[in-house]
Amino acid sequence: MKIAIIGSGFIGRAWAISFARAGHDVALWDRDAAATGHARAWICGVLDDLARTELLRGQAPTAVLDRISPTAELADALDGAGHVQENAPEKPDVKREVFALLDRLADADAIIASSSSALLPSTFTELLEGRHRCLVAHPLNPPYLIPAVEVVPAPWTSQRIVDRTRDLLAEAGHAPLVMKRELDGFIMNRLQGALLEEAFRLVADGYAGIEDVDIGIRDGLALRWSFMGPFETIDLNTPGGVRDYVERYQGIYANLFTQMQRRVDWAGPVLETVEAARRERLPEDRLGERRLWRDRRLMALAAHKKRAEGEYGA
Ligand SMILES: NC(=O)c1ccc[n+]([C@@H]2O[C@H](COP(=O)([O-])OP(=O)(O)OC[C@H]3O[C@@H](n4cnc5c(N)ncnc54)[C@H](O)[C@@H]3O)[C@@H](O)[C@H]2O)c1
Repeated sequence: MKIAIIGSGFIGRAWAISFARAGHDVALWDRDAAATGHARAWICGVLDDLARTELLRGQAPTAVLDRISPTAELADALDGAGHVQENAPEKPDVKREVFALLDRLADADAIIASSSSALLPSTFTELLEGRHRCLVAHPLNPPYLIPAVEVVPAPWTSQRIVDRTRDLLAEAGHAPLVMKRELDGFIMNRLQGALLEEAFRLVADGYAGIEDVDIGIRDGLALRWSFMGPFETIDLNTPGGVRDYVERYQGIYANLFTQMQRRVDWAGPVLETVEAARRERLPEDRLGERRLWRDRRLMALAAHKKRAEGEYGA
């Protein structure tokens, strides 16, 4: 299938890799004419890294690259595309304007999906003639290494469009999470937000330092969470499964939740503490270098997960 990537910044270019690796022809378009060329050059480097870590499904980098075409005209990018993935800046006015254009120009049966991190699809698709074919498909960065994608319908998105989007993503090696209806924060940012709020509270109230909080996740909870969700985790953590877990442990948590009702201002005095501790461990001028380290670790983890799934099952 042909896929049109609209907006070729951070996320658009990463989606291009993911879809082209799965065998799709990808047309890249951006309002800034220079952006698609930059994106293609960046993609070349990443494809070499992915080939080295055996994350290109056995294909040569050039075979994947040949499927990605920077396209000067929006109409040409959309012509014949069965799926349009929009990656313009996260501003309601921009999304409304871009979606109006895409709905007018895209093929009649094309799906139009937004990568929006936080805007509800109803806020920028309501007035469109083709609003039934619009939805959010929100990836984590970068989608060619992190499989989860949140599929979020507006109240008027047709079920057929939701199903087609889920199938397309799954066939491309993604792990779609399909919401029944839209909600602020979707699923993953609500989970992440709950965890961050508690992390800030522990530091703000003087119970723990930031490194201890990070150890608790990095060398504790996240080891299981990197291959099981919280529900499967608790199902396996007591002899009798999830019901046994709830009967034994809900009381412990219920006591905690009453202590967690008060909001912490992340930008308040706690930020001084968090920032000072982080900058002591990692000076600001080394953030870029550490991001490269993170990306290499993510690649190694993705390769390991693939191997482990083959060996032990998913
Ligand atoms: N960066 C992330 O980690 C991340 C993760 C998930 C989702 N997203 C979402 O992806 C979307 C894009 O974010 P990004 O980080 O790639 O931003 P970015 O700034 O890197 O890229 C945006 C691109 O859109 C182009 N653009 C601007 N106006 C446009 C228009 N009207 N039509 C087409 N292209 C236009 C810009 O030239 C730029 O190349 C946002 O909705 C964001 O919330 C970002």
